Parts: sequence; structure tokens; C-alpha cells
Amino acid sequence: MIGGEIMCGITGYVGKRNAAEIGLKLLEKLVYRGYDSAGFASLDGANFSVMKAVGHMDRLYDKLNGSKPKGGAAICHTRWATHGIPTERNAHPHSDCAGRYYVVHNGVIENYKTLKRALEASGHVFASETDTEVLAHLFEETRKTTPSLFEAVRLGLQQVQGTFGLVLISSETPETLYVAARSSPILLGKGDGEYFIASDPRALILYTRDVEELGDDQIAVVTAKGHRVYDLDGVARSLKAQRIEWSEDEAEKGGYRHFMEKEIFSGPEAVANSIRGRLLIKEGNARLGGLNVDGVLERLSSAKRIYLSGCGTSYYAALFGQYLLKQAGIPAEAGIASEFRYSPPIFDPDDVVVLMSQSGETADTIGFLREAKKKVLTLGIVNVVGSKIARDTDAGIYQHISPEVGVASTKAFISQITILSLFTLLLARQRGMPVENGQMIAQSIARVPDLMQSMLSDEGWIKHIADLSQKYVNYTNFLYLGRGINYPTALEGALKLKEVSYIHAEGYPAGEMKHGPIAMIDENFVSVFIVPENGHRQRVFSNMEEIRARYGPVLAVATAGDLEVNEHADDIITIPPIEDTLSPILATVPLQLFAYKVGTAKGINVDMPRNLAKSVTVE
Ligand code: F6R
Repeated sequence: MIGGEIMCGITGYVGKRNAAEIGLKLLEKLVYRGYDSAGFASLDGANFSVMKAVGHMDRLYDKLNGSKPKGGAAICHTRWATHGIPTERNAHPHSDCAGRYYVVHNGVIENYKTLKRALEASGHVFASETDTEVLAHLFEETRKTTPSLFEAVRLGLQQVQGTFGLVLISSETPETLYVAARSSPILLGKGDGEYFIASDPRALILYTRDVEELGDDQIAVVTAKGHRVYDLDGVARSLKAQRIEWSEDEAEKGGYRHFMEKEIFSGPEAVANSIRGRLLIKEGNARLGGLNVDGVLERLSSAKRIYLSGCGTSYYAALFGQYLLKQAGIPAEAGIASEFRYSPPIFDPDDVVVLMSQSGETADTIGFLREAKKKVLTLGIVNVVGSKIARDTDAGIYQHISPEVGVASTKAFISQITILSLFTLLLARQRGMPVENGQMIAQSIARVPDLMQSMLSDEGWIKHIADLSQKYVNYTNFLYLGRGINYPTALEGALKLKEVSYIHAEGYPAGEMKHGPIAMIDENFVSVFIVPENGHRQRVFSNMEEIRARYGPVLAVATAGDLEVNEHADDIITIPPIEDTLSPILATVPLQLFAYKVGTAKGINVDMPRNLAKSVTVE
């Protein structure tokens, strides 16, 4: 595995250079995740410099006011609050009573209350409300009876339940960092007589491409010269050296104003990358190499039911998968991962679970996976290579799109539903779909990147969406409506608007609208209909009229050349004609762009909307 995505960010450095400066440079590469405070601790000999600030990293730099804390070892952190509100007191690093140990930590210490109570009973005084602080005091306590700091860390961590990626710096051993992991990524990057530490490879590539990732329940003792790795029983281990191949450019904005914009415009490339080498047009089929292992294909061919799950946007992709598979005659059900667990499917041993996750690190999805794994075959459709879900599922399909940086998912969703189209084609062909039908579908999928590109290269089309965003930017309520396979599209369109413009938006099945939401409709409540040309669009037209009869403004995403829609909408955004089952891929693009334009028109930092994090690693 090379890395994974988590909410908080950790970096560290030990070597000849100015450690705080390098640690903070690494940290800047992690701020795209969203965070609420930042801090560092660096050591010059046995003297600590520690600084923390709430809000943007600039606040930390303001506090430094151009000064550079001296010293060759440092640890840094961006925090996304889980235990304790975002304050300086709760920002990392956290220390013990004597101020000899400082810790930065990602993850959740599940038994922190029990540990804290025991430590308080032994006289420890806590300064924050965080679970992390427990670690610093715990090491201080275990150090009293152990021959070395390493042993103190090892025995301390044996008492910890929960997850951690952590780095400890101590005035006791000023040129050594102690790094540990359990279900939370931490990478060591080797330099020339120096070591870099980060929770995300995107930071490390600033200085090195030679990395090693710490495994679960492992501790690394890192100095400028090298490192030794042990498991929690004290047995020496070795790590696999890996080389990161990503170009720095891939993670940068590439000329666009925001990552979100870049990622919307790279939708055609995302689809092309997701289908490359996988679409067999002549055979009318899909080849998904990741499923071609250990009898997985055979089990899929006889699967009684496919359960799809994920969170947020990834759940909407799962719901799309449910509609698509069922239309192909394959029993399927989608559920939100955080809820599926409370109403778990009654699994048949022949069922198959498919988990959708861009990051592969979403805690709720991992939670569902843990349960499902005990009973049935589990598959993942994941972007981040080697992430937790990618590792823990029995087999899977990588999205093969470059890192998604914008917090709101755009190209990842487009790629997820494309891959589900390939997956459905494969299963349908396994179950007797005639080759001619398969060929037609494969040909349609192959056309998607060009059709998408034709929209995104059309300046008039883009300007029209920009104009509409200006027209609608001051409305405060939106209903997104679609039927059938475009119901998930409506949900996703509404979520995008909410996330990046902070405007209230609801996704709803168009047919359900008259069973309640219609009560809200007046001239100030906008309805966005996803109404491509298909067999049931007349019913959607009726719904549009129901809105208009109540003076509600109607915006429609419809097929180019569909003249009838003009009669039912105030404004129309067109998409190219395409097979109905693939229309969500095209219809999502203008909805993403509309949300982006409305968000930027409101002056919102769409790449890092408030309160959101790129990967939600807490349940
Ligand atoms: C929405 C968004 C989130 C994620 C969700 C799952 O724009 O990005 O709703 O889709 O947190 O994340 P992954 O796909 O990483 O499991």
C-alpha cells in the first residue's frame, strides 16, 4: 500500500535541515483535506518550540512572524475535531505533565476515557479534551517502569484500543522520532541523511519518492540515519520499500482556478481512464482484471443478490448501481453504509457486497465491510490504491483516476458510475444477455468520454451555465428531481449544491414530490429536473407542470433536440443524446458545474467547504 486518505494530517522530519520549516511545508500539502487547527513541536537539543493556531495554517505562520524555530527534529499536525471543539488547547501536538513528550495523532482512541481516568487517578493533569492527549500521559506513565522510551511506547500502545497513526518527539531522545500505526496511514520517506514522515504520499513527493509504509501495530524508531521497526510484541520487522510514481503536477491545479473546476473538466479523462483496457466492444463485454482472481467471476455469475453500499456521493453511486443492475434483471439493493449496519441485509451465502469509496478509508464503509466480510464475498470499487477498503475486500476494481483533491467529489462519482456500467455489463453477459445487446452497450460506453468532452469544450454551453448560476445564486431553496436511474443523479446534484454553495437543496424522486415537498413550492423555490429523453419523461413533464402551476421556477437538464421540454421549463441545460442508462454520467456534469459556479459566485472556497473533510475516517 502507498498511503491512504485520512482527515487529519501528520508530518515530521529528522535530519540536518530546519525541521519545523520542512515539517510545515509538508503539512501545507495536506490542507486540502479540510481542517480546523494546526500546530507543531520542534526540538533544538532538549528545548522545545511549540506553536498552535485555530483556523487556517496562515494563522500559524502569522504567529511565527517570520521566525524559524531551530532544531533538526519536528512533528506537525492539522486537526479535524473529533473529541473536543476546535480550540488551541485541543490542537495537536499534545504533551505529558512534564512537557517531555509531544504527540501528534490521527485516529480515535476508543478507550481514552478509561485510560484518562486511570491516569488522573495516578496524578496526571490533562490540558485538553482530546483523546490524543491520553497518549502523551500514557507514555509518561509507562516510562516510569520501562528501561527505554521505545519500551514505554510499546507497552503504552498495548493498552490502547482504537486506531492511530502517531508520531512522538521527546527531549529525552532529541534526535529520534517514534512513529506508530494501526488502521491509519503513516509513511516514512528516505532522504539523504534525513527522514520525512507524512500521513499522505502527496506531501512526501515534495522531497522524496522512496517511501515505506508502517503496517498495523508497528512502531518505527526513526533517526536521520535510518530506522528500526518492531511490532507491539517487540519483534523486529522490516518494511517494503516502494517508489511513488505520481507526478507532482497530477496533484496540482493545472491552470484551473480550483481543484473542483479542474476535476469537473477532467471528467472525460476520468471516464477514459476507468474504461481503458476494460471495454471489449467486439465481444460486447467488459474485462475487469481485479475480479479475475480466486473464483470471483464464478461467484459473481451465480450471485443471488448484489448489495451495494458507500457514504455520501459514493452511496449515490451505489444507488445508481442498484437501478442499473435491476434493469439488467440482476437482483440488487443499495444502502447507506452507516445505516446498513443497523438494518443489516439478511445475507445468503451466495450474495455479493460491492463497496464504493473514492478514498477507500471511509470509516462507516469500513465498518460495514467488517460485518459483511464475515458472511459473503466482498468487492471494492475504490480510487486510492492500497487503501484500507482496497486491501480488506476480497477483490475489486480500481477507478484508475489520479488523486481527487477537491473535497466535494466530482470526477470520482463520474468514474464510479462508469465502472458500475462496466460491472453491470459483465454480469448481464454472464447471465445470458445476447452479445448484440452487449455490443450496443459497450459502444455507448465507449462514446461517453467524447460526448462529455463535447459539452466541456463548448464555450457557449459553459457560459450558459455561468449565466444561470448568476440568475439563481440568490435563491435559497432548491429541489432536485429525477425518476428512475436519474433519481440518484438528482440526489448527487443537490448534494453538490449544498456542499459548495451552502444553499439548501434536496434530492427527491420526481414522483414523490407531490406527496409532501410540493407544499414548499412558491416563486422563490427552484426545482431542477433531470429529464433526459426516455420512456418516462412525459411523467416528469407532468411533475414540472405541477411545480409551474405553483409559480415555482423550473430548470431542466434535458437532451439536446428535445423540443417538448421547452414547454415545461423556464431554463434548460442540454446534454447530448445517449442511452438512458448512461444519461446520469452526462447529466451529472452540468449539475457539478452549476454548483461550482454558484459556489464561486458566492465567494466560497469550493475546494475546502466549511465543516467538510475529504475523507471521513470517524464513524
Ligand atoms: C461528497 C463527498 C462525500 C464522500 C463520502 C464518501 O462530495 O465527497 O459525500 O463521497 O464522504 O467518501 P469516499 O468515497 O472516500 O468513501
